[in-house]
Amino acid sequence: MNTKIPNHIGSREENVSGSNPSDKVNISDRNRSLIMHNLVSNALDIWQPDMGNKKSKSLSGETNPHVNSGNESDESLLSITQKAKGYIVNGFDSDIPKVLVADDHAASRMTAVALLAMEGYEVIEADSGALVVDIVIQKQPDLVLLDVMMPEIDGFQVCQLLKQDERTRLIPVIFITALNDRRSRIRGIEVGADDFLSKPFDRVELAARVKSLVQQKRLNEDLDHAEQVLFSIARAIESRDPNTGDHCERLVQLGKSFGEYLNLPRNQIRDLMWGGYLHDIGKVGIPDAVLLKRGNLTTQEWEIMRQHVSIGERICQPLRSMQGVLPIIRHHHERWDGSGYPDKLRGHEIPYLAQIFQIIDIYDALTSERPYKRAFTPEEAISVMAEETAKGWRNPNLMQQFVDFIRTSHQD
Ligand SMILES: [Fe+2]
Repeated sequence: MNTKIPNHIGSREENVSGSNPSDKVNISDRNRSLIMHNLVSNALDIWQPDMGNKKSKSLSGETNPHVNSGNESDESLLSITQKAKGYIVNGFDSDIPKVLVADDHAASRMTAVALLAMEGYEVIEADSGALVVDIVIQKQPDLVLLDVMMPEIDGFQVCQLLKQDERTRLIPVIFITALNDRRSRIRGIEVGADDFLSKPFDRVELAARVKSLVQQKRLNEDLDHAEQVLFSIARAIESRDPNTGDHCERLVQLGKSFGEYLNLPRNQIRDLMWGGYLHDIGKVGIPDAVLLKRGNLTTQEWEIMRQHVSIGERICQPLRSMQGVLPIIRHHHERWDGSGYPDKLRGHEIPYLAQIFQIIDIYDALTSERPYKRAFTPEEAISVMAEETAKGWRNPNLMQQFVDFIRTSHQD
């Protein structure tokens, strides 16, 4: 290839812009604001470690036409929601937890309802498996107590549907089984059950298991919210930059398809995709005077700009779910010959996902139009990257795999 290429910008930290990103973040509830505050504070070294103590969000008050709420008189298949009155649920610092009891056997259902109401829970009842999924979506209980044997759809199918649905997957499910029903327990584990209880109920055991799972569920929700906050911050940073357009979104798609091409495990593909959104989140901590500066940065300004990788790492570090993304965030500007930053890692010292990510990041920058350059064709981009690989900046084997991947995908 002998294509004349205008100035290459792909391998430097370029075109970062924006004022205060927080004005672009639309986070409505107080919980998210608190988490966002803490995450960003962490990056700025004023972290207050209270992630586990957030109040949970309020539960949906929407009404399902098939579900009676406490003030409705209609008596259908579902029975009346029992509001816990006069009870304080020990250990919960916010709204009353809601439990759905799904059992076609009335006596057994009533027993569970009575015990849970005594413990201070708000209880919803269902006597048919067919209704459970809709009710759970509508009412968003904190836990489902599910009988295995029910008409139409059995408990296993219900559990499977709940665990596959993004809206309900975090809601714990306890199966009610007969004592020593080993087969049902094994089947239950296969479909994602969180715990098991045997009939007849032991009140203390029921209370302990329900309380533990509800607390775990609320903690998971907070973590889930924290991840969403991080993605919101990352999107806000990107939206301030008139140069990059949908750079992050394209990186997510490219990370997925190149990761699949390399036969990476599912969790690593997810890390690559998340890296697409989060790799430059640390730019939230770079002063506008540097981030938005037109023209060349001074040596000192470059020092500041380069800190975005360590700031990003500190922002995401508290979340366990982000552990696989941290190497991408910290090391996406390292170079194979050790001339990159922040740690001047060489060769295979550079985490593999960071090597992969850097290649797709540069390729997308080259093949996208920017105010100061046209979009290069895939062949032009590969030519530039090949020159840089020859200079020692990138893993030559991985680069060759990427070239094969791009040529294969453009043949499709
Ligand atoms: Fe970067």
